Amino acid sequence: DPTKKVDRFLHAMRLHDDRLSDISKRFLAEMKKGLSAESTAAAAVKMLPTQVRSTPDGSEKGEFLALDLGGSNFKVLRVKVREDVGIKKGGVEMEEKTYPIPNELQAGKAAELFDHVSESLKDFLHEKNISPSNKHLLAFTFSFPCEHPSLDQGLSVSWGKNYRVRGLQGKDVVQALKEAIGRTGDMDVEVLAMVNDTVATMMTCGFDDQCCEVGLIIGTGTNVCYMEELRHIDLVEGDEGRMCVNTEWGGFGDDGALDDFITEFDRDVDAASLNPGQQTFEKMVSGMYLGELVRLVVLKMAKLGLLFDGRVSDALRTKGNITTADVAAMEENGLKNTKDILTRLHLSPSSDDCIAVQHVSTIVSFRSSNLVAAGLAAILTRIRQNRNLRGVKITVGVDGTLYKTHPQYPKRLHKVVRRLLPDCQVRFALSESGSSKGAALVAAVAQRLTSQRR
Ligand code: BG6
Ligand code: GLC
Repeated sequence: DPTKKVDRFLHAMRLHDDRLSDISKRFLAEMKKGLSAESTAAAAVKMLPTQVRSTPDGSEKGEFLALDLGGSNFKVLRVKVREDVGIKKGGVEMEEKTYPIPNELQAGKAAELFDHVSESLKDFLHEKNISPSNKHLLAFTFSFPCEHPSLDQGLSVSWGKNYRVRGLQGKDVVQALKEAIGRTGDMDVEVLAMVNDTVATMMTCGFDDQCCEVGLIIGTGTNVCYMEELRHIDLVEGDEGRMCVNTEWGGFGDDGALDDFITEFDRDVDAASLNPGQQTFEKMVSGMYLGELVRLVVLKMAKLGLLFDGRVSDALRTKGNITTADVAAMEENGLKNTKDILTRLHLSPSSDDCIAVQHVSTIVSFRSSNLVAAGLAAILTRIRQNRNLRGVKITVGVDGTLYKTHPQYPKRLHKVVRRLLPDCQVRFALSESGSSKGAALVAAVAQRLTSQRR
């Protein structure tokens, strides 16, 4: 049985429930560190307060432009939240357009990136026949870590994934956007709110399900947010009520907390990444790295003579040549896809080789969903402890290409979470309409509060 040798070879990636519970406990400890004033500066898991104090209640309304930057696609949108339909499904209308971002802008100067963003916005207005001179309210989903002195300010903490932009560290991203809009000219746009994609996802799903208090992304990157008790958030004044915290869990392990789980393949992926030493957990989990992990495992096994009679091709040696889409495809369709993918890499796999490589994909993607399950179990445990409950009924809003396109991922994740937390009633809601709907709902609340103050 060719899967046996893979099992032995990837022993360190197979995480049984006791190890997952161990990871869950470590993550709970990291959350505490990130929340407390004394330890937050050095915390690997940043636990950023978001200024979002409630999930949607159905009274949100208005018409907004939205920008969605930092996932696999950059989009400009128009979102209408109709008060007459309210919370019922169909109450939100959306139009969108995806704009490609040239690679050099992902590694260039902040001002150039935001000029592109703002010119795309102008193009969108033109294309949809929206008058640029009327005043427009804008909601911004920005899928990178930020500190939020207020909803309409976000101080950039770092870039990540496939972005390494210069000249924004510690600066206000919203301000950078506003300046770019000014440079583009002829548009009257007020930026009302900026949110992380996890927060937007929680809000999107929260519009249809009042129990949705967690937002989870398993896409290019991975991250989670949840509703925390204000009294536990040292960095924000006040003790009453709750605030959404963007955990930035991708950084879990950056201080060594996961060292005993890290394999040589994880170290290689990290070393070849744009941000070595950062986002340890993300690199074990998310779509940007999964294919590369599989490639490195297959390459090593081939070099050791465990696959392809010890033959290796240049294509297999090339970074990026197995994608996460390939990993998903290999777990579908019997062995045909696996054979096609290996043939594309100029290998001549036997049927045992195909079975073995498919099994590598399964183990690597299973480890990903297991790690997410362990993290999520910690989040749900934290919410349960906060509220002094034995069990808790909660909905997790989810988005991201890996979760949406890998055929087995969702059911594996759901099963392990439920096994780790038998007392909780967890529902997973797919964010069908993407993050801009949620970002617009945050903007709608912000607008109501501003007009009440005036
Ligand atoms: C999308 C959101 O639906 O999901 C993005 O609108 C988000 O903002 C994304 O970043 C996450 O998935 P991916 O796979 O595009 O990184
Ligand atoms: C990265 C970013 C985080 C984002 C996640 C998912 O981890 O740091 O802010 O939520 O990717 O897109």
